[in-house]
Amino acid sequence: MAEEMRGLKRSHRCTEVNNSHIGQIVTVMGWVQKSRNKGSIIFVDLRDRTGILQIIFEESDIGEEGFSKAGQLRSEFVIGVVGKVEKRAGAVNEDLKTGDIEIRAKELRILSESKTPPFPIEEKSKTKDELRLKYRYLDLRRPDLQRNLMMRSKITTSIRNFLAEEGFLEMETPILGKSTPEGARDYLVPSRVHPGKFYGLPQSPQLYKQLFMCAGYDRYFQIAKCFRDEDLRADRQPEFTQVDMELSFVDVDDVIDVNERLLQKVCKDAIGLDIPLPIPRMTWREAMDRFGSDKPDTRFKMELVDVSKVVEGCKFSVFTAPLERGGSVRGINVKGQASMSRKKIDALVEFAKEFGAKGLAYFAVLEDGTYKCSFGKFMEEEELKSLAEAMEAKKGDLLLFAADKNTIVWDVLGNLRIKLAKELDLIDNHAFHFLWVTHFPLLEWNEEGKRFVAMHHPFTMPMEEDLSLLDKEPEKVRAKAYDIILNGTELGGGSVRIFQREVQETMFRVLGFEKEEAYERFGFLLHAFEYGVPPHAGLAYGLDRLVMLLVKAESIREVIAFPKVKDASCLMTDAPNIVDKEQLDELKLSIST
Ligand code: AMO
Ligand code: AMP
Repeated sequence: MAEEMRGLKRSHRCTEVNNSHIGQIVTVMGWVQKSRNKGSIIFVDLRDRTGILQIIFEESDIGEEGFSKAGQLRSEFVIGVVGKVEKRAGAVNEDLKTGDIEIRAKELRILSESKTPPFPIEEKSKTKDELRLKYRYLDLRRPDLQRNLMMRSKITTSIRNFLAEEGFLEMETPILGKSTPEGARDYLVPSRVHPGKFYGLPQSPQLYKQLFMCAGYDRYFQIAKCFRDEDLRADRQPEFTQVDMELSFVDVDDVIDVNERLLQKVCKDAIGLDIPLPIPRMTWREAMDRFGSDKPDTRFKMELVDVSKVVEGCKFSVFTAPLERGGSVRGINVKGQASMSRKKIDALVEFAKEFGAKGLAYFAVLEDGTYKCSFGKFMEEEELKSLAEAMEAKKGDLLLFAADKNTIVWDVLGNLRIKLAKELDLIDNHAFHFLWVTHFPLLEWNEEGKRFVAMHHPFTMPMEEDLSLLDKEPEKVRAKAYDIILNGTELGGGSVRIFQREVQETMFRVLGFEKEEAYERFGFLLHAFEYGVPPHAGLAYGLDRLVMLLVKAESIREVIAFPKVKDASCLMTDAPNIVDKEQLDELKLSIST
């Protein structure tokens, strides 16, 4: 044992001491949050991961040497204190769990000293993100981050317990795998033994977990690290964690059932939240039509209304031209905002353009019954009246319309809806709205590559009733895929997998893979399927996102211990870094720029 600790053993964490211990001698350890020297008495707030405990030092209790040592204490010193629990002499501090007691110190050990930290270790730090991330080891001492990470641990424990009880086996899959880029770019690791060859870090354990099903493990789960080289956002990191699972001999409803019960238990265990089951379900098409998004935030209304039929005969070519090309005209009703300034409306138009809109038409129904409308001169009075009726517009409402092909109209209005709800404070921040989105399109047309790509991944099962369309009208085929949404964020997603060889081959053909190419990339899976494969399905959650939403953090970085910043670098370690020439030589690599 270190000299500093000799004879000392912690008896309680800071907030484990309470008024039932009054009169007892305890030994507590932790960091000095704050020390106030009042001359004959010194108050110290002692901090550990559970919270704060007040210690008082007086010379009559601790002796001259001890008292002088107490006078040297500075923020972030690590100390051990032996003392007597007493009822607090001063006013009770209602903000502290230990606000009605204090420890009268009889012995003080300074276990280690601290330099003055570059920023105060306190709740809701106002320090710039860059500085906090550079000193992440100090930032991690802050109570809000500690609460988040402890909650993360509680959530994973709850998940593990539930899944184990449901017969899932926790199994690991390799990090050094084969590069099979699908959605995002892969992170690559050069091989020393095979110069010029690379491992790919997994974007998800997808193929391995399907092999577990082939091998008969029946129900698998893993808390899995995944790597995706994609542009970062507030809810994305290059390295993140999935709660990944796969089940054999099941269909959509079985996966949904076990996951609803999982979510119910996790929410209860973690934050005491009761979520009523079943969780509502919505088809992808309904989600797009009503909310302009495949991850709708259903905490507020302002739903999209398709007014194509209402305007189809009008003389406003901005509306009619897209209709002739198979597009649509849709609107949202921004309640009570008819008097929005021109400047603000112009800003909304600019925002809409970021999502591909050519413009945004507006129609404000003023309180005096007149209106202000950007396309009024192109329409008959009757047409405007029908439009207002279709939008259920009342006096004082502002109607915004987008006309284009469906994908653009949905995206524009879906994003406007969220932006306006935030600005107008329409979202109930205490609500937790879970939602399943189902019946996704199987494929998406990729304009750049001029080919279809899988919306989920190439192993997703088409809906049986659409199977016959796969060859002829692939764009019409819907998938047995499902996403779980919480408050407008995609928490997780999964699908029933293709397990029939013919279906898989058709799928590859539609995706434009030559047979050889498919076997080159996924041969190990396709061959495995030749030896008896059970029908199977699965799902993966973004654990970071789940924790972020349950603790109501603003960014995924608030629930990840050592996150990366926007350019995928780590400000604390400076990764990625330049490596020695010898390391490159060993790998037979040279840097060309
Ligand atoms: P998917 O690609 O939808 O599915 O990923 C599952 C969930 O992982 C989370 N997620 C992320 N979280 C943080 N940072 C990222 N960069 C990031 N990317 C994804 C999301 C997402 O819903 N193999 C399939 C699952 C399956 O079919 O079983 C898969 O990976 O919350
Ligand atoms: P313009 O005829 O271009 O002056 O447009 C008349 C009005 O229609 C303006 O308010 C434009 O912002 C709006 N507008 C233009 N293109 C579109 C579009 N694709 N969808 C909705 N409104 C549009």
